[in-house]
Amino acid sequence: MISTKVTDALNDHLNAELYSSYLYLSMSAYASHKGWRGAANWFFVQAQEEMIHVQKMYAYIEDQGARVILDEIAKPPSDFGTLLEVFEGVLEHERLVTARIRDLMTMALAENDHATETFLQWFVTEQTEEEKSSKEAIDRLKLAGDSGLAIFMMDNEFGTRTLNPPAV
Ligand code: FEO
Repeated sequence: MISTKVTDALNDHLNAELYSSYLYLSMSAYASHKGWRGAANWFFVQAQEEMIHVQKMYAYIEDQGARVILDEIAKPPSDFGTLLEVFEGVLEHERLVTARIRDLMTMALAENDHATETFLQWFVTEQTEEEKSSKEAIDRLKLAGDSGLAIFMMDNEFGTRTLNPPAV
């Protein structure tokens, strides 16, 4: 059993994860339009990962006997600039998600809600990984600079990303 306050906050975060998936799908479409086929794959896989985050949040709310309430999903941007700027947008977004998870954890601790605290631990670890992978892409794209060949090779590498779904 979780409190109404925690339920509302988790439902709100479920919506944020849906938006994350929507945002990365938009980035994937943008990358595809720009001819960055590898990056389009990378963002598509990221969109799928975000849906797994949604599923985890959904299942936890129901497991606690609470009710999932869905809300509108905000419209994502459709233009993202250079490939480097797209990944800078990813990192910026993930930092916002990390801050949201931190706030959720602070609330769970304040409410003495150990079950939710334990549940959120997975997201804390996941956010470290998400920030790391986008930061690595940014660092390497900065090294590539204006070299079309280097960006082409990096795009090929982004194309090798596959979905590794965790247990939900
Ligand atoms: Fe679900 Fe990328 O945070």
